[in-house]
Amino acid sequence: MPAVAVLGAQWGDEGKGKLVHLLARDADYCVRFNGGTNAGHRVVTSRVPTVVGVGANGGETEAQEFKFHLIPAGALHEGCAAVLAHGMVIDPYALVAELEALKELRGSEPEIYISSNAHLLLPYHPIVERLEGSQSALDTTAKGIGPAYRDKAARIGLRMSDLLFPQRFTEKLAAVLERYQRIWPDHPELQRLRAQELAHEILRLAEGFRDRIVDTVRLLNDALDQNKYIIFEGAQATLLDLDLGTYPYVTSSTPTIGGIGSGAGVPPQKISRVIGVAKAYTTRVGLGPFPTEALGSAGDRLRAAGQEFGTTTGRPRRCGWLDLVALRYAAMVNGFTELALTKLDVLTGFDEIPVATSYRYHGRVLHDFPTVCEILQECEPVYEKLPGWHEPLSDCREFSELPRAAQQYVRLIEDELGIPITMISVGPSDEQNLWR
Ligand code: GDP
Ligand code: IMO
Ligand code: MG
Repeated sequence: MPAVAVLGAQWGDEGKGKLVHLLARDADYCVRFNGGTNAGHRVVTSRVPTVVGVGANGGETEAQEFKFHLIPAGALHEGCAAVLAHGMVIDPYALVAELEALKELRGSEPEIYISSNAHLLLPYHPIVERLEGSQSALDTTAKGIGPAYRDKAARIGLRMSDLLFPQRFTEKLAAVLERYQRIWPDHPELQRLRAQELAHEILRLAEGFRDRIVDTVRLLNDALDQNKYIIFEGAQATLLDLDLGTYPYVTSSTPTIGGIGSGAGVPPQKISRVIGVAKAYTTRVGLGPFPTEALGSAGDRLRAAGQEFGTTTGRPRRCGWLDLVALRYAAMVNGFTELALTKLDVLTGFDEIPVATSYRYHGRVLHDFPTVCEILQECEPVYEKLPGWHEPLSDCREFSELPRAAQQYVRLIEDELGIPITMISVGPSDEQNLWR
């Protein structure tokens, strides 16, 4: 059975959640290995078909949506266990709330495993992020992701395993909180936090998931040995990778293929399919260079047609044209074996569609994606203009049903990247797909 990675190929929000939900129908495990509540993976399901028993609103239902932030999007399926691996930073308050909401939608308890080595994102992390100014300097999701990963790197972070030793947990939390309170002695929100009370509250919350804290490295490697089907669900995306992305306008984790090795403890060579998820155009939420950004009416039109507002924060996403320079880079560093192309329906109605095939930088033509922000900032996209189409695509279910110009668009991407596009998404619902 395959181990499959589903990874964002651009700057996030490509529709990873939808694809994972579709693939997970047959999966044994679905695994998150990076990030935390900065992720927002929206799944629109026509019904909750594989859930055993009657759902909260009576079994077969109208289309429902679920926004996943911490739990992998395979968790809507009864046979698919959810794994939160140690590469994540987990907000226990958000975890409990999401588990409750998911249970309500499924009508049953999801099977979930949480790594004992996953770090806790605690209430002081978002406060510290704001105080340091990184939230506004980068326009982050304001969830405290950077400070939580920094505590991990500084080796002062608290982990899920600490919850199993209440006395030690309280002492460690007090030490970290005190450290931050010493740095900002006059900040009321930070000073209001009391270590004892906070620890007590979190330990109480943890009663809801303490028995799910396990060694997920052993669990996943045993599952691979038993030939189980595992899906690794990337959060964020290649160009937001701490090392491989557009630093410093990145997140603080590793959303690329290597993140599965470090963040889940599974050797990457065991992963037989690496699916890159790309939108048929490009979006970015937050600050940082974005060469193909379409300012003005074209960008507004993409935003309106694609409903490009953040799943986590509601922020309007910056919109622009497909960037094949960036996609070639994403394919190279992740070793994509295939691509899923989402939101092709959003491009309906343009007379012609620009696609960037190279950049111009100070008079030179660049074919390779520069990750140095100072260079990328000054790159001008060189566009190839493809004919557009006017037919709506949302009811297409076969490649041959797509208008000729849309087929040509898909083929150009395949040719440029040398990777097959095996799935095309033409709407948010889990039924609006073309498989090839
Ligand atoms: P993720 O973070 O990669 O999982 O993506 P998000 O869920 O944040 O953002 C993708 C958005 O596009 C969600 O609202 C999806 O419901 C929606 N979506 C996914 N695929 C399609 C598609 O093919 N067409 C349209 N119109 N919307 C889609
Ligand atoms: P999914 O998994 C899009 C962006 C933020 C900001 C930068 C750093 O839904 O694709 P952070 O809070 O992580 O420190 O913010 O990264 N960002 C995302 N953009 N989709 C995401 O996740 C994102 N997660 C973080 O907007 O620019
Ligand atoms: Mg998202």
